[in-house]
Amino acid sequence: MNDLTEKPWSGRFQEPTDAFVEAFTASVGFDRRLYRQDIQGSIAHAKMLARQGILTEAECESIVAGLQRIQGRIETGDFSWSIPLEDVHMNIEAALIQDIGEAGKKLHTGRSRNDQVATDVRLYLREEIDQLQTALQRLQTVLLDLAEREAETLMPGFTHLQVAQPVSFGHHLMAWFEMLARDRARLRDCRRRVNQMPLGAAALAGTTYPIDRTYTAQLLGFEAPMENSLDAVSDRDFLIEFCAAASILMMHLSRFSEELILWSSAQFGFVQLSDRFCTGSSIMPQKKNPDVPELIRGKTGRIFGHLMALLTLMKAQPLAYNKDNQEDKEPLFDTLDNLKGALKVFADMLAQLRPDRAKMKAAARQGFPTATDLADYLVRKGVPFRDAHAIVGRAVARALEQGCDLSELSLETLRGFSPVIEEDVFSILTLEGALAARDHLGGTAPRQVRAAIRRARAALENARDS
Ligand code: ARG
Repeated sequence: MNDLTEKPWSGRFQEPTDAFVEAFTASVGFDRRLYRQDIQGSIAHAKMLARQGILTEAECESIVAGLQRIQGRIETGDFSWSIPLEDVHMNIEAALIQDIGEAGKKLHTGRSRNDQVATDVRLYLREEIDQLQTALQRLQTVLLDLAEREAETLMPGFTHLQVAQPVSFGHHLMAWFEMLARDRARLRDCRRRVNQMPLGAAALAGTTYPIDRTYTAQLLGFEAPMENSLDAVSDRDFLIEFCAAASILMMHLSRFSEELILWSSAQFGFVQLSDRFCTGSSIMPQKKNPDVPELIRGKTGRIFGHLMALLTLMKAQPLAYNKDNQEDKEPLFDTLDNLKGALKVFADMLAQLRPDRAKMKAAARQGFPTATDLADYLVRKGVPFRDAHAIVGRAVARALEQGCDLSELSLETLRGFSPVIEEDVFSILTLEGALAARDHLGGTAPRQVRAAIRRARAALENARDS
């Protein structure tokens, strides 16, 4: 295999590559994933060359047909990848030459692997972002459906993980919907910068052939050819940007996972995860562990790590292309695999989530969640807020002493704290009253939650069209 003539660049070399170096520098083990985009890019390049009279029509047709045959062979498993041929690009080119002969040797005219690989990765990531958008949309739909069913469900809202004020469970779920909507906007924005074409930059300086980059960009569905050839082959900022967006998204899924882990514990008991998303313990027969959210929380670490790897990969590279950039692919692929997996399993798991409304309501009753409502009541009766705050503080202390909720104190006791308190106070001390009172845009009143869900559904439908 270690035959000098086998390598397209071996002309100026007198010694074969060291066998270990050959394996060490090869990327075909992982970049073969780009085969489809590599062929897509080559076909567009060949068509452009023919249109410009650099290749004959016959040569172009032979190249296109040959590349299509190779794609077929790769997809049926009838292609053997060679490590001495280093990467996906040289493997495919060598196979083409073997298949169609002379014309195959002309494909690389006016091109370099440097602009080729940058183009392949951009085509690949563009498709993946589109798939991620679909997966995110599905997760958002599952969330909306769940939020709609739970718009009236009372749960304790927390700050500092202490009961703060009652909220609608639907409202809580819609908070996650909003975070995912921003994640999608970030990916949409990132895609615009991914969708720029490096091809034509050749090794770094452009090429002496009369190429038409605008035509190639059109064939490949890129928004435009990149302006500067050195920039086109060297920067991987679009990958860094993607991994940053992916990290923020994973951070959201990780936080959400943390809530599911807490909520499904015996101590909270707010939700039950389906058995299909949990596992047991090999020693403790009673256990049902929330493995899926735990694993998503755990995988978040490696996604953050990939972002850091890419930033570090880039930071000290002089212009233009350096072999360092070959290291951009594994972090990207691993990010994509884990992100897609996490999004799918998360949506499946949420679709089967069983909320325990009674438990949530019982938990909302603990910890005086309507204390702020009592203070607001006093303010409406003319008491300054700071005084009202102090009055309610004393009432809470009394309720604690008596081991009851504020709503269970007698009118007489309450009036002992402030004479402005009247019989109507009890309607605002209930959880339902407290919920319904937060009745403005963005508030937790079920009426507002349902309106938010309607707006979200409409936005989701529109996003589908655009
Ligand atoms: N396998 C290389 C990469 O992934 C392709 C470009 C190599 N170019 C070069 N001049 N060595 O970046």
